[in-house]
Amino acid sequence: MATAVPPERHASTDDLSIWPASTTRLTLAVTAGFPPERMVLHGNTKSPRDLEAALRLGVGRIVIDSPSEIARIAAAVGADGRQKVMVRVVPGVSAGGHDKIRTGTDDQKVRSLPHRRGAQHTITRVLGQPQLELTGLHCHIGSQITDVKPYLVALRRMVGLMARVRDAHGAVLAELDMGGGHGIAYRPGEPALDLTALARRMRAELVEGCSAAGLAVPRLAVEPGRAIVGPAGVALYRVLTVRHTGEKVFVAVDGGMSDNPRPALYGVRCAPRLVGRASTARPCTATVVGRHCEAGDVLAADVELPGDIRPGDLLAVPVAGAYQLSMASGYNPVGRPAVIAVHEGTARTPVRRETIEDLRSRDVGA
Ligand SMILES: Cc1ncc(COP(=O)(O)O)c(C=O)c1O
Repeated sequence: MATAVPPERHASTDDLSIWPASTTRLTLAVTAGFPPERMVLHGNTKSPRDLEAALRLGVGRIVIDSPSEIARIAAAVGADGRQKVMVRVVPGVSAGGHDKIRTGTDDQKVRSLPHRRGAQHTITRVLGQPQLELTGLHCHIGSQITDVKPYLVALRRMVGLMARVRDAHGAVLAELDMGGGHGIAYRPGEPALDLTALARRMRAELVEGCSAAGLAVPRLAVEPGRAIVGPAGVALYRVLTVRHTGEKVFVAVDGGMSDNPRPALYGVRCAPRLVGRASTARPCTATVVGRHCEAGDVLAADVELPGDIRPGDLLAVPVAGAYQLSMASGYNPVGRPAVIAVHEGTARTPVRRETIEDLRSRDVGA
């Protein structure tokens, strides 16, 4: 299995959001040359090491995801320091492509987040810490959202909260980060979020809401994730076995849940197609399965493939640029795939395939 992506483009973003918080990711981002002062660090739980690294590297803003972080960050900053922070709020909006990627309501995993009714208490505590400078509020309501409306509802609630903070504390918050979750189409005919409409309508809602509340319009930020890199990648699998059992055709490939756990985790459906040779055979309905032992290692159920699909064929799965290689594991251990960058007929390998030596090198013995 391999992943092909076009050469990386350096996005001209203002900030880089690092979620979830991880010392390794922070360090990698700094090593890659991204200015730490333009980084925003998230995470529903941050280890002492993550916080220490964030402060040492000079991360621009830390998003407080749980009230228990307030004292920890303030203590880590020290009496003479000052750190910019934002507070993550659960706006009570349910949106997203699957229960497991909906994060906007407080019955989800990230339960410690301050609900909007409890958010004021958290904000009061942050404002009371001289080491912390509250620059604004943050929310992320879920992933694979294809409708603008949940964002507008969330934004209205966030503006309402900003007005209450101003009324209660006289604090005017200069930033509002609405998170990501911008849905993309994985299969032909699936809906995708209209980003132009999202930008236009969020901006209009913000200006209108702030004007009604007598607030200065804050700097609006969004955190696109898969919408940037998802469509840029194609996963390539080699067919190893084709098995006909009664009406069913099972096509087993040289990858599976070790390179893409999302179909098994939360039912993502992908659209493999034959590449590398033309076929005029009548289509058959096939189930593309991985090489792992779990019955749930199914990459695509009941998809149309040419009836003469055979071992050695290549299957391409589009929209594999996000949450695939990054979620690949050492399970079984098949070895994580290479990344091939393709541009105008030339190819290079920015990330090589994981080898047996890579796997062995971690095994340091007794
Ligand atoms: C805080 C935060 N922002 C942005 C994103 C990006 O989400 P997506 O890739 O669905 O746009 C995530 C994903 O989990 C997130 O947790």
